[in-house]
Amino acid sequence: MKTLLTKSTTEAAEIIKRGGIVAFPTETVYGLGANVFNAAAIAKIFAAKQRPNDNPLIAHVGNLEQIKLLVKEITPNAQKFIDAFFPSALTLVLPKAEKVPLIATANLETIGVRMPKNELALEFLRKCETPVVAPSANLSGKPSPTDWQAVFEDLNERIDCILQGEATEIGLESTVVDCTSDVPLILRSGAITLEDLREIIPDTQIYKISENEQPKSPGLRHRHYSPRAQVVLVQSSKFKVQGLSAFIGLNQPENKFELVKTCESVERYAHEVFSFFRTCDSRNIETIYCEIVEESGIGLALMDRLKRAAEW
Ligand code: TXA
Ligand code: MG
Repeated sequence: MKTLLTKSTTEAAEIIKRGGIVAFPTETVYGLGANVFNAAAIAKIFAAKQRPNDNPLIAHVGNLEQIKLLVKEITPNAQKFIDAFFPSALTLVLPKAEKVPLIATANLETIGVRMPKNELALEFLRKCETPVVAPSANLSGKPSPTDWQAVFEDLNERIDCILQGEATEIGLESTVVDCTSDVPLILRSGAITLEDLREIIPDTQIYKISENEQPKSPGLRHRHYSPRAQVVLVQSSKFKVQGLSAFIGLNQPENKFELVKTCESVERYAHEVFSFFRTCDSRNIETIYCEIVEESGIGLALMDRLKRAAEW
């Protein structure tokens, strides 16, 4: 299939309306969208990404009204988070509406709902005139795409269209919070931090899977965020280096590397890490050394992604 590259939100939205799949920018990462009520279109997303079919999708809305089309009820906790944070890098998990096909939620009776803040995303979503389900627009298991070129690298000729926007501002995926029970549970950390959420609902917890339990967020089970290169986490700028290697972190390392990226803040580090992984793969780097950061603020989300990348 030929993949159309366009800057026109009208053209991209027309493709969604005709049952196609379109990659589009958000402030977190690029998503790969389909009409939430079109099961056949959603099936194309799973095929294009080679995504395991037990991994549910996030539904994106262009205005707050559309949330009602997706959920049975907006729980009181969810309403507080919506009032405080929407639109932003926050996904709320709620009981799904009858009409949402089960393929969208991988057979779960809940659905993740997000209203992105990125202007182009909002313009596109409004023109679609329907909520749009979208996972990150990468091949399953690869680092999420933070610019349209990364989408092109993974999905050219596998999807109908790429809406070409800017590189994403945040660079890590949204915070996912389960709001189906009294205590909000963070299933995946992101730019809306634990601290931010606790300012609104102090009880908010980080979900920790106990042994023998099915994970609440099936995505947590799967290989994620991984470059081909091996990822090694390091504590300081001084450590032993092997093979063709690269470094990303906050402090200038002492060793010599094929590729080095020092970032001026944890935010910049989060912003750069996925595209750095992709650059490393294109340069055939064998080992990527990633400096450990403090697990607070967005550092928690960054360390979550780094640890997952290092597991494989
Ligand atoms: O920033 C983002 O969230 C991006 C942009 C495109 O919005 N999307 C994204 O989607 O990262 P994806 O599919 O790559 O990751 C969605 C995560 C997965 O870990 C999935 O398991 C979880 O959210 N999730 C989605 N719906 C869920 C549900 N109903 N219950 C629990 N977890 C859910
Ligand atoms: Mg993903």
